[in-house]
Amino acid sequence: MTRDLPEGWLSAADVKELSRLAKGRTVLELGAYKGRSTVVLSEHAKYVISVDRHRGVNYPEDTFPDYMTAVRELANVAIVVSDFQSFVPYVTGVDLVFIDGDHDYDSVLRDINLAISISAQMVALHDWDFAEVREAAETVFRRDPSSIGGSVASFTNMGNELPRR
Ligand SMILES: C[S@@+](CC[C@H](N)C(=O)[O-])C[C@H]1O[C@@H](n2cnc3c(N)ncnc32)[C@H](O)[C@@H]1O
Repeated sequence: MTRDLPEGWLSAADVKELSRLAKGRTVLELGAYKGRSTVVLSEHAKYVISVDRHRGVNYPEDTFPDYMTAVRELANVAIVVSDFQSFVPYVTGVDLVFIDGDHDYDSVLRDINLAISISAQMVALHDWDFAEVREAAETVFRRDPSSIGGSVASFTNMGNELPRR
């Protein structure tokens, strides 16, 4: 596992899978918290656009100071403090969207649809063991994930997907 990772929710198996998926890709990350997934993505991706509002309904703590300590020296990370849904329309050229924001059905569905709207080739979802994450993915993709490692599930070849409600 990557050494000295910030506090967060990625297990060793999640880190391994995310590292594999990110390799050489341009990644849009939803949900950085204190930077654990951001650091992992940065080590393997070509470039990472890391989006978090850093203080939300489900996460009242201000995570920005710890996050900045973890990521400010990473040359291939763009730091975006914003709601994901407000920011995504300004994004182009992303290969992989890593979704680890709010985990209720409506939020996950919205976030997958946003990833589709910018023509990302691949979506990876953390917490695949959460029923609402799986249900939202089923609504959009109507197929099994292309791969699952740890609790990270990914869907590839997204060119023909349509946003679903
Ligand atoms: C589970 S934590 C992310 C954990 C992180 N990936 C890690 O490896 O530890 C979820 C984060 O998503 C952020 N978040 C949730 N919904 C969001 C949204 N719509 N826009 C921006 N940030 C959001 C929260 O502020 C929180 O920091």
